[in-house]
Formats: sequence, C-alpha cells, structure tokens
Amino acid sequence: MHDTSFFAGRHVFVAGGTSGINLGIAQAFARAGAHVTVMSRSPDKVRQAAEGLEALGAQALGISADVRDPAAVEAALRQAHGRFGDIDVLISGAAGNFIAPAKDLSPNGFKTVVDIDLNGSFHVLRLAWPMLRKPGASVINISAPQGTNPMRYQVHACAAKAGIDMMTRVLAMEWGEEGVRVNAISPGPIAGTEGMRRLAPSPEALANVVASVPLQRMGTLDDIANVALFLSSPQAGYVTGAVIPVDGGSSLSGGRDMRASYVPRGAG
Ligand code: NAP
Ligand code: COA
Repeated sequence: MHDTSFFAGRHVFVAGGTSGINLGIAQAFARAGAHVTVMSRSPDKVRQAAEGLEALGAQALGISADVRDPAAVEAALRQAHGRFGDIDVLISGAAGNFIAPAKDLSPNGFKTVVDIDLNGSFHVLRLAWPMLRKPGASVINISAPQGTNPMRYQVHACAAKAGIDMMTRVLAMEWGEEGVRVNAISPGPIAGTEGMRRLAPSPEALANVVASVPLQRMGTLDDIANVALFLSSPQAGYVTGAVIPVDGGSSLSGGRDMRASYVPRGAG
C-alpha cells in the first residue's frame, strides 16, 4: 500500500495500542498523517506510546483504561471523540496470554483471558458504535491462529479468539447496513513481540516456529500494519466480515504444539 494520503487527518483509535503489534499499527497510521489515540492499562506505556507517535509528526492522545471496565472504556472513547471527532478506524487488539494446560488453569485464569480478549473487544466495539463515522468507518479486531486452530495448552486463548472471529462476522452483518466494515487480522508469529516471548520462550522454540512457516521467516510489525492500512482504505471498500491470516502460511498446517514450551509456574 503506497499511497496512504487517504488517512491524513482521520481519527484512528487503537485499544491495546501501546506495545507490539498494535503499536506498530498505530505508528503506521501516524506516519500516514492520522490523528491517533492509543489506550491501555499502564500509564507509563500510554505516555511513551503517545510521545512516540507525536515524534512521528502525528497528533496523538494516550489514555489509560482497562478494556475489562466498560465505564473506563466509554470514558476513554468519549475523551478521544472530544479531541479528534468521529472514529474512522477502530482497532481492538488488547489481549493477554500464557501457556497453561487446561487441567491446571484456574477458573479465574480462563476468565481473565476471555475477559480481556473477547469481552474487552465487545466493550470497545459496542461502546465505540455511537462515535464511529457512518458511513465509512473500518473496524479491525486483532485475532490469532488460536481462533481457527485448536492448540494444546491454549484453551483460554482459543476460546477467546474464536469468539472474536465470530463477533467479527456477526457485527459485519449488523453494521454493514450503516456503511461500517468489520474485519479481523489473524497475525502469525511476529518477531520481537510479547506474544512470542510468552509462546516461544527459548531459541529452540523460535527456530521450530520459523521452520514451520511456509515463508520460512517470522513476521514483522509492518507485515501486520500494512494489512491494517489496506483494510481501512477505499481499496478494501467491499471487504467485510473477513478474518485474514497474515502469517506466512503458518496456519495452513494447523495449530502449533505448545507442550514443549510449557514451564509450570514456579519452576522457572
Ligand atoms: P503486547 O505487546 O503485550 O500487546 C498487548 C497490548 O494490549 C498492550 O498495549 C497492553 O498494554 C494492552 N493490554 C493488555 N491487557 C489490557 C487490558 N486489560 N486493557 C487494556 N489494554 C490491555 O502483545 P503482542 O504480542 O504485540 O500482541 C498484540 C495482539 O496481537 C494481541 O491481540 C495478540 O493476541 C495478537 N497476536 C500476537 C501474535 C504475536 O506473534 N505476538 C500472534 C497472533 C496474534 P498494557 O499492558 O499497558 O495494558
Ligand atoms: N499460568 C496459569 N495461570 C495464570 C498464568 C499462567 N502463566 N498467569 C496468570 N494466571 C492466572 C492467575 O493465577 C490468576 O488466577 P487465580 O486468581 O486463580 O490465581 C488469573 O490468571 C489472573 O491473573 P492476574 O495476574 O491477576 O491477571 P492480570 O489481570 O493482572 O493480568 C494476564 C492478565 C495474566 C493475562 C497478564 O499476563 C497480562 O497482563 N498480559 C498482557 C500482556 C500479554 O499477555 N501479551 C501477549 C498478548 S498475546
């Protein structure tokens, strides 16, 4: 995607946008001249992310809020709307994950991941609805291969991301009538991210991941951001309800086996 001038002055709101893949997306829109709001829990990460976006020449706003708290999410969206107006692009990417066998996962451990990933995404999308530009807004959920492929020791993330994929399709049907498109990106293994530090914590595990990717490399932040830009552009004007793997083909052969990477808590 070479011409990004379409995004100049548009409002992009990124939930979970202060590190990793989601910050990479926020930075790509900032470079394209958008006004960017990032929201996450840590006030330090929020401040650093917003400063970094401003250093790229964007107008940026950072807000500290937990996606599990609907009142805090709504307040954040209102604050962003007050500053930059209707939301043109909404990215929902806040997530938490760890490797854990189901039999050792506490009810609260399961609930925590579902609350952040799935319920949090519903809060973000639902509460943003009155503030989305209609027609024209692009909504993108950040899913994962866990949403499609069953993976051992990932029951919490698999359940949560599968829910996100279905929510993407349902809201695409409901919101299409008002000109709002809803899609999801399912990233493969992305280099240098917290997700990979948790799910492939050793050099051996990382080497196995690379070997399993048909394109024989890890993904980059730009690999994901480029697809977010495309999905939000007029060139993708007829794309909605799609869950798009951006993974070098890694999901074609099914889910990864995380058993060898599992370290029981307290044993590390
Ligand atoms: P990351 O750097 O840990 O990003 C997670 C972001 O969400 C952070 O900004 C974090 O900031 C925020 N967050 C977490 N819990 C939150 C909460 N309760 N409320 C609000 N914000 C919250 O991880 P990442 O690896 O880049 O992953 C980003 C997204 O990509 C996730 O949706 C993940 O499932 C997906 N993904 C990643 C990979 C990969 O290879 N890394 C592969 C497939 C899918 P705070 O800590 O400040 O809250
Ligand atoms: N294995 C099993 N259970 C775990 C776990 C692990 N590695 N880490 C946390 N849990 C359980 C906790 O034991 C707790 O359950 P309990 O009350 O029955 O003991 C529950 O999960 C909540 O843990 P807590 O630390 O209180 O949650 P939190 O809200 O502070 O943090 C997490 C949420 C656990 C998801 C945390 O890892 C996080 O903030 N992650 C964000 C970053 C991230 O995961 N990035 C990658 C995205 S793919």
